[in-house]
Amino acid sequence: MTATATPWRPHAHRLADDIATDGVLRSPQWRAALETIPRHVFVPRFYTQQPDGHWSETGHDSPDWLDQVYRNQPLITALATTARGNQVTVSSSTKPGLMIRMLEALDIQDSHRVLEIGTGTGYNAGLLAHRLGGDQVCSVDIGADLVAAARTRLHSLGLYPALDIAHGGAGLPGHAPFDRIIATCSVPAIPWAWAEQTREGGLILADLKRSVHAGNLVLLARHADRLQGRFLPRWAGFMAIRDTDGAPPDLRIDLTPEDGDRSTTALPLHPWESLIPWMLTHARLPSPLTFGYRGAAGAGGHQWAVFTATDGSWCAVAKDSRDGRREVRQQGASRIWDEFENAHKQWLDLGQPQWDRFGLTVTPDAAHQLWLDDPDSEHHWTLATTL
Ligand SMILES: C[S@@+](CC[C@H](N)C(=O)[O-])C[C@H]1O[C@@H](n2cnc3c(N)ncnc32)[C@H](O)[C@@H]1O
Repeated sequence: MTATATPWRPHAHRLADDIATDGVLRSPQWRAALETIPRHVFVPRFYTQQPDGHWSETGHDSPDWLDQVYRNQPLITALATTARGNQVTVSSSTKPGLMIRMLEALDIQDSHRVLEIGTGTGYNAGLLAHRLGGDQVCSVDIGADLVAAARTRLHSLGLYPALDIAHGGAGLPGHAPFDRIIATCSVPAIPWAWAEQTREGGLILADLKRSVHAGNLVLLARHADRLQGRFLPRWAGFMAIRDTDGAPPDLRIDLTPEDGDRSTTALPLHPWESLIPWMLTHARLPSPLTFGYRGAAGAGGHQWAVFTATDGSWCAVAKDSRDGRREVRQQGASRIWDEFENAHKQWLDLGQPQWDRFGLTVTPDAAHQLWLDDPDSEHHWTLATTL
């Protein structure tokens, strides 16, 4: 179906209205971009995970495809198969309301040159190119097929941003300097290369996540000697940056929870139930964590939520609780759950500050300093620089 033959405009208007109703869409320029750039051209199909774990495809021949594409929701658009045969998501079209929230936060002006990390479908590059003109927009993705498809779609609409197949961690030095950098995949640390490619006074908006859920979007201003800024008040999550084109390596959890040192906990099990305490926990750990589940070992055994660090340390927390407490097992040099308990207590003692009170300073030596309320605060945390 072509962009012109598809009756998409009323859907695009409704989408813009929905995002405006949420209070997110404020600028007439971004409303015009939402109403002019057809999302369905960038999302000819999407995938939905079914309760049994398999992914079903909805293509443009499906009756509800158009309606779904213009809903304010993220859509998974690319899957890859890991070495162990697991299907994992490698690209998506971000929830449009989140995309607009980020574009509004970046305070983009007509003269700006913008670099996007994570081209994906090309939709956001399309919004940017509509607003600024293709010659002021660059976008990179590590997925060669993704970039090729995005290029074809953008060209079909008469939009010509500079697209490149590259590891976005290096930015796009040949096209620098930029006034704005927007990353639409999460990063465990802000690459200093992005700072070097941003004009002084320019802004970088990225999803800093040490581990899944342990972090948030942070808006950083380029100063001569540092990047500095605050986390956005609302939490959001992007898929993590990959180092290769293809599926990331399978998660290996080679451990026997029953072997670990025993304790119990009353704290919530899942990282998304304690977002800020988990971010603070990372200042107490030498490396990012991976998170997964491990099934019951046998009849009567527990099912465990498992956190592992790259130094081999791990902790496992039983999913079942008794009298409000769960079993905990830990092993290794990093006492992961103990550190989480300590960070959680510190957060309670500080009065449970939310994202709007946290900020970040990044310096050329790659140091990342979190702070509460202001950069000179007595409450600050250093994130490990070796990842
Ligand atoms: C949420 S999607 C981006 C959505 C996109 N902005 C859009 O409008 O459709 C995240 C993208 O980040 C890309 N990505 C992951 N690792 C990357 C890397 N190292 N460099 C550049 N892009 C990367 C993925 O391939 C994926 O397409």
